[in-house]
Amino acid sequence: MGWQNWFSSRKKDLDAIDQDHGDLVPRLSLGRNRDRHDEKLPRFQGTAGDQIRSTGKRTALDRVRFHLRNAFTPSQPVLSHKMFAGRTEVLRTLIRSVEDQRLHVVLYGDRGIGKTSLLHILAQLAKDARYIVRYSSCGEETDFSEMMRAIAKDIPLLYHSDYAPTSSEIESGRSLADLLPPGTLTVPQISDLFAKISNTRILVILDEFDRAHSPAFRRSIAELIKNLSDRSSRLQLVIAGVAANLTELIEHIPSIRRNILGYQVPNMSNSEIEELIHNGEKICGLSFDREAIAFISAVAYGSPYIASLLGQYAGLAAVDRDANMVEKRDVSEAINHSVDEIRHRVSSLSLFQTARAKADGHGTNLGLLARLALHYAGRLLPQQADEVIRKPGEGMAFMQKMETEYGLLEPLPNDPAGAYHFREEGVPVYLWIELAQSHFAGEKSNAKLLDALLDKYVVTQNA
Ligand SMILES: Nc1ncnc2c1ncn2[C@@H]1O[C@H](COP(=O)(O)OP(=O)(O)O)[C@@H](O)[C@H]1O
Ligand SMILES: [Mg+2]
Repeated sequence: MGWQNWFSSRKKDLDAIDQDHGDLVPRLSLGRNRDRHDEKLPRFQGTAGDQIRSTGKRTALDRVRFHLRNAFTPSQPVLSHKMFAGRTEVLRTLIRSVEDQRLHVVLYGDRGIGKTSLLHILAQLAKDARYIVRYSSCGEETDFSEMMRAIAKDIPLLYHSDYAPTSSEIESGRSLADLLPPGTLTVPQISDLFAKISNTRILVILDEFDRAHSPAFRRSIAELIKNLSDRSSRLQLVIAGVAANLTELIEHIPSIRRNILGYQVPNMSNSEIEELIHNGEKICGLSFDREAIAFISAVAYGSPYIASLLGQYAGLAAVDRDANMVEKRDVSEAINHSVDEIRHRVSSLSLFQTARAKADGHGTNLGLLARLALHYAGRLLPQQADEVIRKPGEGMAFMQKMETEYGLLEPLPNDPAGAYHFREEGVPVYLWIELAQSHFAGEKSNAKLLDALLDKYVVTQNA
């Protein structure tokens, strides 16, 4: 079916999609500078209000290209139910822990695994159940007192057990923050206040906890969790951050272990990745054929970030060749683009060191190790490295070599099993995508080699 036919047959769907994302025809043309010779310059295709700009020459392809941005959002977390794929089991576990077991939750995993997206959906579900939800993202400057004051401000005085619902303080719109003294706040002060919450439940979400560097802040949060649990407070914390294991994210874990659910966000299954692509199809109006989906799933290897990135680039590649069906060749093209994009996120030192390691013949092994790191939230065990280099007992030596000669790996601090991780966070994605590029997009024999390696790996995984 040609583009025009396909387009007219899908016109209704596409119009519906357009409706979702705003009017197509801008109502005002104020401020347009008609004197400029804009034809020579590239233009923004949409407006700041997320409308397609009317150029008079807009084609069906432009529309698809425009909608691809919303269909796959590799650089942003998913905020809407419509875009959110899979994760039903994860959400079920989180809800059960919060609701039935009254635990605090600590979510950890690599960047790009989908923590923030999960937290947004969890927040919406909690709001549906009338929880008061506060989401905050941590940073280097995050300060305990300020953060707690802000949380207290969100909780109306109505929910303090000492205030009767008819009292005048409540009517004047006051909050729990009004009961706090000025200046620095201590953990006991906050715990006392939050222990008095009644008739509601509060979910406090602290995302990017790894970015809060202050040991004092981290210690205060651990103490707070302990106190809140001891006093059965109706306020629960959900903490998320980039980490290979629980203790890396939360210090002082022994004292709070029984009060929290520590949960490593798992990689997505292939069917979840497929759902992610189908969600994207509905929004952009393109279709992905079986082979393209299988190819994306293989390379994404459970990472929604990679799947989303490849989905977007593959869609653009199809549009560039006037096609409405995304095929395997578009995914190959997408991998090429992704490598370029991901390379920019890696420091020049790491690029230099990986190039040296590759020149010394370690490229494939490093790529496979990187893939393993993506699967295990960055944590690489010596036995796993054995499998990657296909030499029993020598995995540890290989990782040490990558540490001392190239500075790419380092031992995880205090890891009981002596695990390693990649020193720089963005390196595993880069190494793996580049390996996938060279094998999948390369000669057939190469593709077979990698398939064999991967199959072997899958088998040992399940064993
Ligand atoms: N359940 C999901 N469904 C669809 N896309 C997802 C899902 N989870 C994550 N993504 C996509 O993966 C990327 C990384 O997700 P994000 O939530 O930002 O991860 P993290 O917070 O762990 O770094 C984003 O592009 C997001 O759009
Ligand atoms: Mg995040």
